[in-house]
Amino acid sequence: MRISVIGTGYLGTTHAAGMAEFGHEVIGVDVEPERVKLLNSGQAPMYEVNLDPLLERHTASGRLRFTTDYADIADWADVHFICVGTPQAPSGAADLAQINSVRDGLAPLLTKPTLIVNKSTVPVGTASALRQQIRALAPAGDAVDLAFNPEFLREGLAVEDTLRPDRIVLGIEDEVSLAILDQVYAIPFSEDTPRVITNFATAELIKNAANAFLATKISFINAMAQLCQATGGDVTQLADAIGYDKRIGRGMLNAGLGFGGGCIPKDIRALAYSADEHGVDVLSNLIESVEKINNGQRAEVTQLAVDQLGGSVDGKRVAVLGASFKPGTDDTRNSPALTVADQLHARGAEVIIFDPQAKLAPRENFTQVDTVEAAVRDADIVLHLTEWPEFRNLDPAALADLVKTKIIIDARLKLNPATWHVAGWKLVQLGRAATL
Ligand code: UDX
Repeated sequence: MRISVIGTGYLGTTHAAGMAEFGHEVIGVDVEPERVKLLNSGQAPMYEVNLDPLLERHTASGRLRFTTDYADIADWADVHFICVGTPQAPSGAADLAQINSVRDGLAPLLTKPTLIVNKSTVPVGTASALRQQIRALAPAGDAVDLAFNPEFLREGLAVEDTLRPDRIVLGIEDEVSLAILDQVYAIPFSEDTPRVITNFATAELIKNAANAFLATKISFINAMAQLCQATGGDVTQLADAIGYDKRIGRGMLNAGLGFGGGCIPKDIRALAYSADEHGVDVLSNLIESVEKINNGQRAEVTQLAVDQLGGSVDGKRVAVLGASFKPGTDDTRNSPALTVADQLHARGAEVIIFDPQAKLAPRENFTQVDTVEAAVRDADIVLHLTEWPEFRNLDPAALADLVKTKIIIDARLKLNPATWHVAGWKLVQLGRAATL
């Protein structure tokens, strides 16, 4: 099939490459010429595991290319996927300006029967309104249809999640769309992958609910971590033990600094906004508690660092390991690690950061260095804030010779306390009181 993918962020770039991998002819569209140029040379505009090889292969074969011009795709494609950002507006609602701009740019060019599939996360009610607006703008009128096909990919695993999704959710309101989407997804995994075919509202709410439920699991375990801390319990063993119950599952039960990134925080805020609009304040109250616990974890780690240094970090040198919001990505949007770094800087600390992938824009709050060794040299305290796998293999004995004081806060509960203790370190983990 001929497929266009509009928007080339994490979602759009991976989706475009995945569609080409499945044998479709694909054109990706973005408003930024520089980005389009980079993509046409087979390079992703962001660091994402296994994405570059896929882009290289399919841009080289000619099955995948990128453009800035809607005229290149309007009549060419059988299906248009919308994969643009829906950031948070100041009110907390989802800002649909990018979706509206795609609508206004593409719809007036549609002269033949076409299917538009939205993949961007949106509040319930969006698909229904969007279909009407597109039909009003398109010369082909009611021959243009819309479907909502939410995406559940995780950064760092985006390629894997695209090529082998857990499930395919299709919000459709007519049979023709389903027949077309069956062809789009007639792909290797299709027989084993559960499909949920439903109406627009349910599909939109499925995506909102998935993110909110994951966030709730994380905040629940972090609240339990606080009780473990207060009572001498061990939250890691607790998570393992409850996770063996299949009804609970171990996923998203790693206690620590909590969730961040470009999706979950703004998507749950948008859901709370939408719940309030519909008078469902029990849901917005629940989400507010989840957010409160999540923000509290960042403040808790900052306070722990202050306490470990005797009540003040003013003039102290703080080494921060990790800047991205989670390992496997260079994305620092709403990164818990950077919040803690900012909070410590605000209290007078000199903050030195190392991250294996994230490149921070130069700013006065921190100094970014290229090695762990450079970060920890002469440090008064070391903070492990993003759990990149390589940090688990650090040699505590070698680092001990570099620092001023051998104190490390493991805010992600991933370091082995025994190895660090043997090398003379004080290792502190919130929620594992025994390590204090
Ligand atoms: C998330 C959803 O998982 C994905 O389905 C959706 O499409 C987009 O948002 P992503 O933002 O890539 O994906 O990250 P995810 O791996 O889900 O982690 C989210 C945040 O929660 C990260 O900051 C991570 O560090 C944190 N987290 C995750 C925990 O604090 N504990 C956990 O047990 C798991």
